[in-house]
Amino acid sequence: MTLMTMLGAVQLGAAAACVVVVLIPMVMAGWHLSRNRILLYCGVLFITLAVCLHLTPYFPSVSDFVTLVSSVVVFDHRSTCINLVNDIAWKVKPNVSLQHFNPTHNVSSSLNLYEKRWDWSKSLKHDACDFQKLSKSDASDLLNGSWVVVTGDSQARFFTLSLLNLILGPQTKRMGSVRADLFKRHSDYSILVHEIGMKLDFVWAPYVVNLTNSMVGLKTKKSYPDVMVMGAGLWHMLHVNNASNYDFALRMLKSSVVSLLPLTASASIKSPHLFWLGMPMLINGMLNTQEKREKMSDRIWHAYDRALGDSRLLRQTGGPLVLLDIQSLTWNCGPRCTSDGMHYDLVIYEAAVQVMLNALLIESHQSL
Ligand SMILES: *[C@@H]1O[C@H](CO)[C@@H](O)[C@H](O)[C@H]1NC(C)=O
Ligand SMILES: *[C@@H]1O[C@H](CO)[C@@H](O)[C@H](O)[C@H]1NC(C)=O
Ligand SMILES: *[C@@H]1O[C@H](CO)[C@@H](O)[C@H](O)[C@H]1NC(C)=O
Ligand SMILES: *[C@@H]1O[C@H](CO)[C@@H](O)[C@H](O)[C@H]1NC(C)=O
Ligand SMILES: *[C@@H]1O[C@H](CO)[C@@H](O)[C@H](O)[C@H]1NC(C)=O
Repeated sequence: MTLMTMLGAVQLGAAAACVVVVLIPMVMAGWHLSRNRILLYCGVLFITLAVCLHLTPYFPSVSDFVTLVSSVVVFDHRSTCINLVNDIAWKVKPNVSLQHFNPTHNVSSSLNLYEKRWDWSKSLKHDACDFQKLSKSDASDLLNGSWVVVTGDSQARFFTLSLLNLILGPQTKRMGSVRADLFKRHSDYSILVHEIGMKLDFVWAPYVVNLTNSMVGLKTKKSYPDVMVMGAGLWHMLHVNNASNYDFALRMLKSSVVSLLPLTASASIKSPHLFWLGMPMLINGMLNTQEKREKMSDRIWHAYDRALGDSRLLRQTGGPLVLLDIQSLTWNCGPRCTSDGMHYDLVIYEAAVQVMLNALLIESHQSL
């Protein structure tokens, strides 16, 4: 077939499609039409056919137009979905297996008292993003061969625990020893998951300045992880208790992150996927020391949260890091999901891990 006959066939097909599109509603409505309506339909049919016939010669460029529109739509889809990925709803219900609770038996943890289930919020927009809880094998595929660095305070440690729970399986013997090593106080931790060639480093970094130092370290070694999750704030709040100082530290961190990104681009390495692990809500009355209740007040918490916004570190304020919104996760799960008003049930960090994996899925489609 020559190009011209192909184009001819395309035009014929398009004209036929136009006729069908217009005729079908007419036939469907036809039996009940008044004379005026028939005249109206005929007019509409005539105009539509005329427009269709004039458009068909341009059909090859229509396909360009479709490509353009769909790429705009895909781009919009990605940024919309990244904005929605933290929208999680909780169902917190009393634990049914404790209904016949025998008070002489000690409950190992108050956290057992409630059953917590979560899922992404339901709406047309959320459904279009197709968020999903990744299974062990999905997560393994996604992280196969990658280097993951998680750095920060005890929250980052819980996040690491949840990620490894997913990859290794929570009940495995291996996970038992991981748990023991990971929770050595104030230490770093490193593991190579051979099955999927994934290297994971946890770096203890209670202050933002420690995060900045890690970034500088990566830059001097010229080796960059594929995924990096970082977050710090609570130690600063308790021990420095100065929001403008925190703001300053965040700005330093931002400039060190921003100066690292072009380096990775020029070295034609894929730039790392960067995440910020947000601060949890603090439930003041539940904090376990007088010092914490005084220094970690709602007022100072909000000042620290404003500092994060002002620093423009996060993607939503034009910065480089995608937020894992621990604030909204903990706020929505509520006081029944924490025993000390600061450290939350592991299910919070499981949800945060799934948020990260879904964000990675969205972002990695972007680079295809
Ligand atoms: C329950 O816990 C308390 C304090 O932790 C302990 O003194 C008590 O012996 C425990 N009771 C049982 C039945 O295990
Ligand atoms: C409910 O309580 C039982 C008994 O303490 C415990 O084994 C189980 O894990 C609890 N379920 C949840 C969802 O916490
Ligand atoms: C990881 O990737 C390697 C190389 O691409 C592949 O051979 C291997 O089967 C993958 N492993 C898993 C668990 O997906
Ligand atoms: C974090 O930074 C503080 C303040 O500079 C420093 O005293 C501390 O040793 C650092 N901790 C780690 C683990 O690097
Ligand atoms: C808080 O930090 C800022 C910036 O580092 C500093 O100028 C200010 O003096 C500090 N305020 C207090 C009360 O220490």
